[in-house]
Amino acid sequence: MNDIGFRVTPTMEGGNLHWDFPEGTVIVKKVYKTPKPAAGEKPIQLTIMVKTPKDPHAQGGWLWITRDLPDGKESVFMGNFCITCHANANEKHPYGDGNPREKFRDYVYFVPGETIPARQ
Ligand code: HEC
Repeated sequence: MNDIGFRVTPTMEGGNLHWDFPEGTVIVKKVYKTPKPAAGEKPIQLTIMVKTPKDPHAQGGWLWITRDLPDGKESVFMGNFCITCHANANEKHPYGDGNPREKFRDYVYFVPGETIPARQ
């Protein structure tokens, strides 16, 4: 995630933390060929979320992008494939801490300081 994303501060809504990542946040997840890549192995794809609520292609405030590697071909997802699954990040789910209190996490599964330790 870029520095803008790490500036996120949650607000309280109905006694629950509510996350709204700032415009300009970029989160990248590397996808490897196998679940346990060897040291130094290169990813085959990046999945990317860009917070840009005013973009006409944004869904839930984010652009949902894949970049194939190594050719760099990028696609912006217009269907609801990405967001349908990521909506589960705002409810109870089986990953990380599982979001037991169903906080609105802005479609992000691993929120810094919540489900992963804050960056040093
Ligand atoms: C079937 C469910 C599912 C779909 C579909 C899906 N994701 Fe995810 N995504 C996850 C899960 C679960 C995680 C967190 C665990 C992990 O890293 O594997 C995640 C993590 C991410 C992250 C890291 C931020 C975070 O939420 O922790 C990005 C970026 C991301 N996905 C982008 C995308 C994009 C772009 C698409 C569509 C091309 C997509 N995802 C489709 C389930 C999904």
